[in-house]
Amino acid sequence: MGEHDLEDRPGVLLLRPLPDDALQRLRRLFAVCEPEPGTDPRDAALRHPGAIRGLLTSSAYGASEALIDALPALAVISSFSAGLEGIAVEHARRRGVVVTNTSAVLAGDVADIAMFMVLCLRRQMLAADAFVRRRDWRRGAFPLQRGLRGARLGILGLGTIGLAVALRAQAAGMDISYTNRRCRDDVCFAFEARLTTLAAWADILVVTCPGGGETAGLVGRDVLAALGPDGYLVNVARGSVVDETALIEMLECGALGGAGLDVFADEPNVPEALLRSDRVVLSPHVGSGTVQARAAMGNAAIDSLAAILLPAEHRSRSL
Ligand code: 8YV
Repeated sequence: MGEHDLEDRPGVLLLRPLPDDALQRLRRLFAVCEPEPGTDPRDAALRHPGAIRGLLTSSAYGASEALIDALPALAVISSFSAGLEGIAVEHARRRGVVVTNTSAVLAGDVADIAMFMVLCLRRQMLAADAFVRRRDWRRGAFPLQRGLRGARLGILGLGTIGLAVALRAQAAGMDISYTNRRCRDDVCFAFEARLTTLAAWADILVVTCPGGGETAGLVGRDVLAALGPDGYLVNVARGSVVDETALIEMLECGALGGAGLDVFADEPNVPEALLRSDRVVLSPHVGSGTVQARAAMGNAAIDSLAAILLPAEHRSRSL
């Protein structure tokens, strides 16, 4: 970033890699400052005191209180993610810094993965696949399974992603209930204040709430026991929300029917016991891992910076 760039355009500190098109657009609109790999981002920021007005990061790359304090002109933190747990959100807000995420444009793809797992578990699609490959089909038909119509789906966290799951489940004829920080008055789904009551009612519990300290271990032994031996847990949110040790124990003894997991407590390290289990469907945190979602996330993250840092005539995506 040259000094002349900063005179023309607002400075943005970029902390995470972006898809190529998004990076090019970001560079056209802003004076982009990128920390050297492995260095403290504050070093890059402090080379241009007062010039950095925006920060582009994600839940994994974060934004600490110390970094926010090192940027006196910071006006917006735009996160290339739905989750904000690595970002000192309250600290930013106290400083008057706007924090945005990209949940609106990735919700559909994350919800698709959640519904894929729901279907996979209910219809035992991994076992069905193995059945064909082993040529067991020649000896008889695959056992009947339970379908989605009329099944009870509990949703933990009815935000943008939870709602996208609910709408898909509704289309599949499922009976839907949710728990959330507050009862939403803009949806027709039944609200249940207690998570254990929701889990006891549900055939499948889908986790779509934020991660971070407030929700750590929320899905513990009591909730899993309430779901029971015929119940399934699907987690497309954060591994931290589920007590993974309890989950493994309950899967191993059959106290929980099964689980679909896109997220884990210590990614990318997945416990051996889960790798061995035939009660689980696993994927490597790919909820938003589509070309379309990542492109849309890049545009949405830049739009958020532009909305705050650029005059209206410079915000068009064609620029
Ligand atoms: C991505 C995510 O893995 O949006 C989130 O919160 O967990 C995923 O979309 C990642 O954060 C992309 O940066």
